[in-house]
Amino acid sequence: MTPRSAPPAGGREHEEFHRSLRPRDFGEFVGQRAVLDQLEISVRAACARGDALDHLLLHGPPGLGKTSLAAAVAVELGVAMHTSAGPLIPRTGDMVALLNALGPRDVLFVDEIHRLAPAVAEVLYPAMEDRRLDIMVGEKLGAHTLRIDLPPFTLIGATTRADLLAGPLRDRFPLVHPLEFYAARDLARVLERAARVLDVPLEPEAGREIAVRSRGTPRVANNLLRRVRDWAQVKGSGRVDRASALALLEVAQVDREGLDRFDRKILLSVVENFAGGPVGVASLAATLGMDTRTLEEVHEPFLIYRGFLRRTARGRVLTERGARHLGRPGAAPPPALLSPRR
Ligand SMILES: Nc1ncnc2c1ncn2[C@@H]1O[C@H](COP(=O)(O)OP(=O)(O)O)[C@@H](O)[C@H]1O
Ligand SMILES: [Mg+2]
Repeated sequence: MTPRSAPPAGGREHEEFHRSLRPRDFGEFVGQRAVLDQLEISVRAACARGDALDHLLLHGPPGLGKTSLAAAVAVELGVAMHTSAGPLIPRTGDMVALLNALGPRDVLFVDEIHRLAPAVAEVLYPAMEDRRLDIMVGEKLGAHTLRIDLPPFTLIGATTRADLLAGPLRDRFPLVHPLEFYAARDLARVLERAARVLDVPLEPEAGREIAVRSRGTPRVANNLLRRVRDWAQVKGSGRVDRASALALLEVAQVDREGLDRFDRKILLSVVENFAGGPVGVASLAATLGMDTRTLEEVHEPFLIYRGFLRRTARGRVLTERGARHLGRPGAAPPPALLSPRR
């Protein structure tokens, strides 16, 4: 199994696969109705004024469509999108170069924006607020600030960790939209579309089965579709039907709730090593030999969303529902520990 512990998993071919499945505009973007409705208005208003769209921050767990939505916004605006990411912009000069390359109304997409170095983020402040770059030139007594005016542009930041974003940066985004986990019926539509694009004869029952086990996440759904297709081709009848879907999900150790073995290991560890919690995320990650970031950004949000795990002021706690899912009713700590919420 491709562990989701190292997202995005699997190299260039894998990236290419997801790119080919990306919704191109708002019309192709499934679900997230509340966000799309608001963005549609913002985009139309900006276009009518002939101005750039306000800066936009998209946040939410990996695979929910942040990058896809940013690209769709650029398409709807009819402008070019310049793409980078926090870790790819190590020096202030790199940020200056990115901003300098922007045409009027263009989109600058900065993925993992919470990972920008503070000094680099500071270049963004006057750029975002006053469309202006302040560059220090010269040295010692000859040092002075050179001001460069920028065309109107839109910064779209994406992050899995809005909580790690510096306050002053966050405050400069007039538009902030969280992406939510998808309902199974929306994921079934994502799968239908992916099957059409990939020319996979997906039977509706198989689509529904994959949809309910995809952790509310389009990227997971599409990965599973690809694996079910392969399974059907090699081991099954060639038909991408419910039987092949169930067989593959079994092999992949994805359970009825869509939890994979890492998710279950996390829940089990809270029971077996920490008596149901509360346990700090760092201790939990260390016990599992898992990277803290992966635990917090990839696994936890879904476990919390589905009510298997809870975040309290004193750490993570297994819920009664989580205990029942593990087949260990009574393993959850008493309700007194479950509140208050952080
Ligand atoms: N709303 C959506 N409709 C259809 N497909 C989607 C949607 N959101 C995401 N996807 C699919 O999931 C994949 C991962 O989405 P992506 O935009 O890379 O997520 P993120 O940037 O949040 O990690 C995309 O390649 C696309 O195939
Ligand atoms: Mg992305």
